[in-house]
Amino acid sequence: MKITAIIASARKKGNTYKVVRQIEDIIKADYPDTDFIYYYPSEHDTNFCKGCTICITKGEHLCPHYQTVDELEKLITESDGVILASPVYVMQVSALMKNLLDHFAYRWHRPKFFNQRVITVATSAAAGFVGKDTVGYMELCAKNMGMIPSGKINVIGDEFPQSEQVRKKEESQIRKVTGAFISSLKNGKLPKPSIKDLFWFRIWQTTTRIGEKEKMADFRYWSEKGWYNSDYYYPASIDPVTGTVLKAFGAMVRNSFRHSFENHQEKTK
Ligand SMILES: Cc1cc2nc3c(=O)[nH]c(=O)nc-3n(C[C@H](O)[C@H](O)[C@H](O)COP(=O)(O)O)c2cc1C
Repeated sequence: MKITAIIASARKKGNTYKVVRQIEDIIKADYPDTDFIYYYPSEHDTNFCKGCTICITKGEHLCPHYQTVDELEKLITESDGVILASPVYVMQVSALMKNLLDHFAYRWHRPKFFNQRVITVATSAAAGFVGKDTVGYMELCAKNMGMIPSGKINVIGDEFPQSEQVRKKEESQIRKVTGAFISSLKNGKLPKPSIKDLFWFRIWQTTTRIGEKEKMADFRYWSEKGWYNSDYYYPASIDPVTGTVLKAFGAMVRNSFRHSFENHQEKTK
């Protein structure tokens, strides 16, 4: 079993690391052979996303920071589990985490990591509602790249004073989420998509066809995967009523985007 933990703090042994270290210890107590890798975005020469959008339109291999992005992409692909961990900075993820997620924007369009389970971790001075958006945002990004969400940990950083009661509660949160993460890793099955997932799939199925299709990385990827003729990214049993509703929704989305198709064709004539 291989797990990659991405620690988006410049403090390599800071509060966020300490929580991830606890997760590692819990996992290794039962699975000592687990290959547990720490990836620090601060040690990689990614620079800020330049906003050229070329990863989305033409392909990620053209990103000016492709080498770094590709290295991490390979690491994630080889992993069974991923931990996205960030300190809360001004109520959100750190800039290191945001920059990393920006570099993976193309994976929202061309999801891939369907075999990877993910948990998200945030540490802050307060936790509770303060870290809620941070763990939620990292989970949203991971899910849209294909990963299977398996839990969220939102705790107060080790260096901040807190009562024994709170500390105990947080420890039990870490144990509980890590336990669920392990079960999910061992289960290995692809989850049944929710209704929301199925609707989103239909939206992407339409939007990835906008523009000069053959030149677009999304269209090529979706065609290769056969996703223009499927109901989801992977086989999923869908009852006939839901199937009919989804098809009607797909047609409605296509209609509402017709303008974009036509305008774009006009402009590129
Ligand atoms: C720039 C900055 C902004 C921060 N913003 C918040 C915040 O909005 N809410 C909060 O509770 N803690 C905030 N903190 C505290 C950190 O979230 C907390 O110390 C965290 O556990 C640090 O993790 P690390 O040691 O892994 O870097 C902030 C810290 C820094 C440096």
